[in-house]
Amino acid sequence: MIFARKTTTPSPAHAARLIGLGSYLPPQKVSNADFASRLDTTDEWIRTRIGIAERHIADPATATSNLAVEAALRAMKSAEVEHVDTVILATATPDHHVPGTAPLVAHHLGLRQVPAFDLGAGCSGFVYATTVAAGLIHAGTANTVMVIGAEKMSAVIDPADRSTAPIFGDGAGAVVLTAGRVGEPGALGPASWGSDGEHADAIYIPDGGSRRPPRTTDDPKNRHVHMKGNEVFRHAVRRINHVTQEAASAAGWSIRDIDRLIVHQANARISAAVANTLGIPPERVPSNITHVGNTSAASIPLLLSHSAINGELSAGQRVLLASFGAGFTWAATTLVWPSGLQALT
Ligand code: UT7
Repeated sequence: MIFARKTTTPSPAHAARLIGLGSYLPPQKVSNADFASRLDTTDEWIRTRIGIAERHIADPATATSNLAVEAALRAMKSAEVEHVDTVILATATPDHHVPGTAPLVAHHLGLRQVPAFDLGAGCSGFVYATTVAAGLIHAGTANTVMVIGAEKMSAVIDPADRSTAPIFGDGAGAVVLTAGRVGEPGALGPASWGSDGEHADAIYIPDGGSRRPPRTTDDPKNRHVHMKGNEVFRHAVRRINHVTQEAASAAGWSIRDIDRLIVHQANARISAAVANTLGIPPERVPSNITHVGNTSAASIPLLLSHSAINGELSAGQRVLLASFGAGFTWAATTLVWPSGLQALT
């Protein structure tokens, strides 16, 4: 297979620098036993095939915007800022088809009239969004950007489908990025990103969009996520391997230079396969999938936040973020972990 190289390089003047990090999980946890009690599955299957023991699920009154606001407030507190000039919300589960959810989030954050928009790139949404934010900062269009990954995956998963229901969880993570210098600690390096729509139906919700509008459909199953798990798994390993190598090389790093690989938490076996193929020791690949499941666009900022809080990320480490998801989409970028950043959850 030929992989096209798609790498963005920030100008020397304006890089996007990480100054705040926050995350939020809804309080209710659902264990594997809950699925085993009502579906043809077992705790052991879910633990060994996916690596998940529990996930957090939002209550019916909580929408993606609520999760996003909680994470964003923590990121702003972490950054010690009261204002950002742009809000980008990466999500596959907006509150409504119309309008976008980001303006509502900005409103609840008390940010008056700032540009705010949703970005849909599946599980790659957060790294896509940091790449867009870096571009806006580089161009001088924005100075300080809130980038949020938030999902209420439980809203789009069929609770009776054993092949998807145990996998996904709800949650949100957010970062504040501000104008900085290329190469300084916290500054995002060049991003590598891409997509392949040939596999659009590998993870998708068949009905409810413009292709099959709600009024023309009546099967509730088709309003939930359908996933060709095995096909996604194979592509995920290959693409994450490749995009990790691309982003490392664009940063001038070898694979051995990567101190921490923060990889999308889709399946513990995917992360292990990537680490194994690239020769990255497992202790350099933090994970939280056991306790949060696959939270789609929230996965990377949640893992960043949890890893920072439990001491797995420290100042000076070379960190590479890599994601893969529906679309297919994939994206990766790098940074040297800054000192003094206190993640809040
Ligand atoms: O975040 C976006 C990207 N998403 C991903 O990256 C997800 C990637 N895919 C995966 O993580 C895995 O493919 C799954 C966890 C979804 C499935 O694991 P797998 O090892 O690829 O299993 P499979 O789909 O090849 O299915 C193997 C068997 C099948 O039974 P048969 O046909 O062999 O009799 C499935 O029906 O496992 C069965 N199965 C289950 N059995 C018990 C599928 N789900 C379950 C389950 N419990 N929950």
